[in-house]
Order: sequence, then structure tokens, then C-alpha cells
Amino acid sequence: MIVSRKNSVKIKPYERRDFVQIAQIYKEAFADYPWNEYKKCVCGQNYGRDEIRELSLCKRCGNAPVLSDFWTPENISQDIDLALKQRDPILLISSTQGAVAGFIWGYKFPVGKFEFLADTLGDLSTRNYLDDIAVGLNMRRRGIGTILCLEYLNKAARTGADSVVLRTDERNKTSMALFKNRGFNLIYINLDVPSCKDGILRDPEYNDRIYMVRQTELLMATKKIKRE
Ligand SMILES: CC(C)(COP(=O)(O)OP(=O)(O)OC[C@H]1O[C@@H](n2cnc3c(N)ncnc32)[C@H](O)[C@@H]1OP(=O)(O)O)[C@@H](O)C(=O)NCCC(=O)NCCS
Ligand SMILES: [Zn+2]
Repeated sequence: MIVSRKNSVKIKPYERRDFVQIAQIYKEAFADYPWNEYKKCVCGQNYGRDEIRELSLCKRCGNAPVLSDFWTPENISQDIDLALKQRDPILLISSTQGAVAGFIWGYKFPVGKFEFLADTLGDLSTRNYLDDIAVGLNMRRRGIGTILCLEYLNKAARTGADSVVLRTDERNKTSMALFKNRGFNLIYINLDVPSCKDGILRDPEYNDRIYMVRQTELLMATKKIKRE
């Protein structure tokens, strides 16, 4: 277990007993712009916390919206189970004063899921994929996301991954700041892909979602030097 004295933040592997608190953070974390995954109409349209306040007719089906939670505990549990089933899973939680404050998870790069990335990134099999990170609303901006991210990078390096790849939404100031400041870089491409006209590698379906990468070799090198 890692303990940061400065913030009294503890980092430990995820355990099933953490689920209820993780699910609460997960629901909150993606409820706002740009994710807007707070509620969904029966037609499948999702809405953010702000959008719901002024909603009279559903923007997709045009009817009075029939809403339910976008993320149910079952969905979240499935997401975690999916992560646990991947190769080299890394699931960490952070807590302060006994309460879960955030989580991060990912695994060895799922080559089949993002085959199109191989055109730009080459061999994907040596990479790790950081799938999700979130910190509880009232715990943000205290460095907890940073600590989670750094510990994740260390763990990924220890699995032998040479780099960590992630996808986030470029409109999300907080995750962009977190990842850029932790050494992740945007991925630029030369290919003529309609969704990537500005040369930045973007998700073909959700164009605001960009990919970032960070090498882990440096972490390993630093550790080796320290040990010698
Ligand atoms: C992204 C997230 C995990 C960051 O967690 P956090 O604990 O607040 O992050 P930190 O306190 O370590 O801050 C990280 C950096 O982002 C910056 N930052 C955080 N919130 C910010 C904001 N609202 N505006 C601008 N910068 C911000 C901090 O200044 C810090 O920069 P620094 O490295 O120069 O100090 C958190 O905002 C969150 O859970 N967001 C919702 C879920 C999400 O979008 N996850 C990403 C999915 S890909
Ligand atoms: Zn609808």
C-alpha cells in the first residue's frame, strides 16, 4: 500500500468491499459535461445533470422523457468485471481518512478493441491501456488524481508495458490538465482520416475524444538507477 503523507492519501488495490463507494464516485464523476452520463431516456439519449433541469421533451424521441440512471450499479459492476478479466489488470483505489476518494483502472492494451490505432502506434501489444480514472466531487483538486495516475504508471511499468495509452475528451479541462501535466502527449497522425483533419488522433465515432500516450521506460530507468 502506498501512503502519501502530504495528503494522507492511501492507494491500494481494488477489493469487492470498495464497490459501493466506487459506484457512487463513478455515477457522480461522469454525470457532468462533457460526459453527460447522468440519466438516460428509454430511447437511449443520455443527459447531464445540468441538461435535466430544463428538459421538457427528449431531444431524440421528442416525447416526454422517461428517465433512469445512466449508470446503474450493475453496469458499473460489469465495467469493473470486464477490467478484471483483461490481461495484466491494474485496479487501484485511493482513500483519505478511511473513505474511498477515487479510483483508476486499466490493463494490457486490448488490441482487438482499437485495431485502428495500430496504423499510428504500431505494435500495440507492448502497451497498457488506462481505461478509467475518477475522484469524488468533494475530493478534487487535492492531488488525488495525480497520485492515482503516478501509481498507475509505476504499476504498468512493472507489468513490462513500455507505454500507457488512454482516451479522454478534449473538452474536459480537468482530465486534460491531469494527463498533460503527468507527461501524456497527444498523438499526431499523417494519415488522411476525415475525423482527424487537424492531425490529432481522434476517436472515429466520438470526435472530441482524443488519445494520449506516455512512455514508461523512463520510470523503469529511474528505478534501476536508484537501485544501483
Ligand atoms: C480528472 C480528475 C480525475 C482529476 O482529479 P483531481 O484529484 O481533481 O486531480 P488533481 O488534483 O491531481 O489535479 C490534476 C491537475 O489538474 C488540474 N486541474 C484539476 N481540476 C482542474 C480544473 N477544474 N480546471 C483546471 N485544471 C484543473 C490541477 O491543477 C492539477 O494540475 P497540476 O498538475 O499542475 O497541479 C477529476 O477531475 C475527475 O474525476 N473528473 C471526472 C471524471 C473524468 O473526467 N475522468 C477522466 C476520464 S478519461
Ligand atoms: Zn427519448
